[in-house]
Amino acid sequence: MSPHRPLRSIAVAGAVAALLVGCGLAPSTSPVDSVEFETPLVIPPLAESTAQNGVRVFELTAQEGETAFTGGDTTATRGFNGSFLGPTVRAERGEVVAFRIANELSDETTVHWHGMHLPPDMDGGPHQPIAPGETWEPSWTIDQPAATLWYHPHPHGATEQQVYQGLAGLFLLDDEHSSAAALPQEYGVDDIPVIVQDRDVDLETGQVLHDRLGGDGTEVGLLGNIVMTNGVIGAYWDVTTDRVRLRLLNGSTARTYSFGFEDRSVTLVASDGGLMPEPVVLDEIRLSPGERAEIVVEMEPGERAMLRSFPPDLGNPAAGFAAGEKDEFDVLELRAADELQASDEPAWTYDDVGLAEADATVEREFELNGRRINGAEMDMSRIDEVVEMGSTEIWSVRNGELNPHNFHVHDVQFEVLTIDGEAPPAELSGRKDTIYLEPHREYRLLMRFEDFANPDVPYMYHCHLLQHEDAGLMGQFVVVEPGEGLGEVPDHDH
Ligand code: C2O
Ligand code: CU
Repeated sequence: MSPHRPLRSIAVAGAVAALLVGCGLAPSTSPVDSVEFETPLVIPPLAESTAQNGVRVFELTAQEGETAFTGGDTTATRGFNGSFLGPTVRAERGEVVAFRIANELSDETTVHWHGMHLPPDMDGGPHQPIAPGETWEPSWTIDQPAATLWYHPHPHGATEQQVYQGLAGLFLLDDEHSSAAALPQEYGVDDIPVIVQDRDVDLETGQVLHDRLGGDGTEVGLLGNIVMTNGVIGAYWDVTTDRVRLRLLNGSTARTYSFGFEDRSVTLVASDGGLMPEPVVLDEIRLSPGERAEIVVEMEPGERAMLRSFPPDLGNPAAGFAAGEKDEFDVLELRAADELQASDEPAWTYDDVGLAEADATVEREFELNGRRINGAEMDMSRIDEVVEMGSTEIWSVRNGELNPHNFHVHDVQFEVLTIDGEAPPAELSGRKDTIYLEPHREYRLLMRFEDFANPDVPYMYHCHLLQHEDAGLMGQFVVVEPGEGLGEVPDHDH
């Protein structure tokens, strides 16, 4: 153990309303409170679906609710089909999926399928608003490799707030390779979803505080004093197998984590876009907001192992401002049974032939500064880039300042070609849809735009630090048939 800063100690006393505060809450700094890990992890239920004429139909309702995070008083939250977070949607490659999404909130929302390859009018970005009382019914064919994706609201200017209130869920994709893989894959047994989020929580009243949203937090946004997994503060998980797979989602609005254990390495088996080319053994895996990683952890009978977040390397030579780069805290305790079921070494078939840099016909440059990309703030009625369907492109992306940013592109899963001209580290050798941008480095991303041309409806690219995104760090691109021009993009601002 190497505590880097004083920890304020609190204890969770069983089911009693008792998160005892060691000292007063200081919500203006980023340090994370230390809690005891005495509450079982809650596994989000798998979303129910019905088969209707070969289409698999899901129902999601965005609704208001009340949640007791500390076992005592409830606090106002939002969720899908429940009071906080949402069920895990699961589908197989080749399936046609359809959703009926009801908005029972008091304000407009959208539901975006983060990481999904799909037509732009099904994407759930800011151009597919669902008014209060309305229902949205998107449908598409799942046609991409098995992966851990997620869904969350994306209304322009209000994404940070709605995700923070609790609107988010996982979307797992399966395919023949993932099903045949030697990997733990029994959902909620040895294949565990772990949605990691931080919140400002007043531990005396159990209230989630919202006053630092919208830019009153640090430069990166709100860094909470409490970190929760699947909505549980201080969670543990009972492990029954000698290997456990954790599907980590950084569902935070601003905080970047560096996940690992004090006493063991982990095996990275999948990143945003699906299975890695091969297993990658790591001590820590850095995840910025929106990124996912599937890791396999080995356990000995009867032991306890704490998943922690170590001080994340934000690549910031002027460390010292509050971006969470010094924060270190426990996340989830794994408790192994006295006898563990044996499993095989992680192995799978990988047949993604990859994209060829030589095929790239267009190179675009993006520089992120403040709340602008290439000098412009997001404008719903302006299309920034026009891409021809079928083309392979290189997007060269740079964070032009010391303040942390990341970069997410809708519709595609890209390959990281180089970082400052060098090959990326092994953990970035798989497909990605979101990538952390270390300051002043050039990330060259290779991507191919396939299947869906629509000159009228844009996809988004943006920083996934949600306060940044809301404040303008976002741009829009349309994919058109070769030779076709820009269409008419509806302006929802008016
Ligand atoms: Cu996770 Cu544009 O979104
Ligand atoms: Cu940013």
